[in-house]
Amino acid sequence: MKTISSFQKLKDNNEKIVMLTAYDYSTAQVLDKADIDGILVGDSLAMVALGYENTYNITIDEMLIFIKAVCRGAKNSFIIGDMPFMSYNLSLEQGLRNAGKMISSGANAVKLEGCNEYILTLIKRCTESGIPVLGHLGFTPQLMNTLGGYKIQGKTSEKTEAILSCAKKLQDAGCFGVVLELMPAESAKYITNNLHIPTIGIGAGKYCSGQIVVTDDITGKFTDFTPKFVKKYTHIHDILLKSIQEYKKEVKDEIFPSEKESFELVKEEKEKLSLV
Ligand code: KIV
Repeated sequence: MKTISSFQKLKDNNEKIVMLTAYDYSTAQVLDKADIDGILVGDSLAMVALGYENTYNITIDEMLIFIKAVCRGAKNSFIIGDMPFMSYNLSLEQGLRNAGKMISSGANAVKLEGCNEYILTLIKRCTESGIPVLGHLGFTPQLMNTLGGYKIQGKTSEKTEAILSCAKKLQDAGCFGVVLELMPAESAKYITNNLHIPTIGIGAGKYCSGQIVVTDDITGKFTDFTPKFVKKYTHIHDILLKSIQEYKKEVKDEIFPSEKESFELVKEEKEKLSLV
């Protein structure tokens, strides 16, 4: 069984941690089969699965639907539910209640962004209540407007030290790991080398304890935009399009459905309907 200790063990053994996102049952089944170390039901689903422009338009109740679907598909995986925008920022009570909803829906842990005093207290309250927390620093999409847009973080030694200081606070508050998003590889290396808990990089180079990417990005299912840090392993969008065009042609040409995909009425019944 995978737990937060599995993450620490992988880091301590110098083995990279492999994480991916999933939003639905059938993708979760594939990730489960591939024995991925951790699955994040990320709020990126607002953009990737629901077509919104950013991650602001998804609520906790909507997230729970996707978490339940992923949990049904990935029975052996460690599943992390991403706390969406404003689902934990209003009060400790709200944050704790919503983190609890993620766990009762089947997630093994939650992820939340930032490291101010309020967030640190919330992390402590969650971990004390049995809810493991994965932190998220660097570029934090829910803070995009206050960060001044989609920008690489930690570009100077001073800024890297500031992220490390935040990461240490998350570690002390009880986070079992921290996502480092969008920063130079060497900044992420410095942060990783100065923490006990694992770092999970996204657009943060190869020195993190592990990596996470959006599954729909690396499989080419989502094609609206491709960040520089994404490597495409296949082109699902093109494969789907080709299959669907072929299906369309076969229906138009009366090739599909053939006898193979049809059910036959018994002879006597055909006769009654004058079909023979
Ligand atoms: O929502 C998301 O997918 C994320 C990333 C870290 C992958 O937060």
